[in-house]
Amino acid sequence: MLAEWNNSFSVGISIIDNQHKTLFGLINKLNDGIQEHKSREGLGEILKETIDYASEHFKTEEDLMREHRFPDLQRHKAEHDAMVEKLAGFRERYNRGETDFSVDLLMELIDWLHSHMGATDSDLKPYMNARGIF
Ligand SMILES: [Fe+2]
Ligand SMILES: [Fe+2]
Repeated sequence: MLAEWNNSFSVGISIIDNQHKTLFGLINKLNDGIQEHKSREGLGEILKETIDYASEHFKTEEDLMREHRFPDLQRHKAEHDAMVEKLAGFRERYNRGETDFSVDLLMELIDWLHSHMGATDSDLKPYMNARGIF
């Protein structure tokens, strides 16, 4: 398994933790697809599924921040937007046949998730926990 979840990644808010686990699962599904030499179309479908899920996840966090008037929403959202843009750009190049999948790309995504979860998402914990959201 490329991306393995452990409790040190918990941000103390269950809906977010569960979505992060699903994201890790999708990254593993992409890695499995690469290892199994899935077709370009097959990998492209899992890539789309991953990007759609990431967007949905980011929206969940942003809605939660908006609902509870989290002061640092814009800075947090800017990190999400930059990642979505990067993934969408890769998907376009992939669909045009200009690039192939690589485990390096998945590693980069995992690194980003680790650092975003460990810092930016974790900043939500004390604020949300204090408002009864766990
Ligand atoms: Fe986030
Ligand atoms: Fe997140």
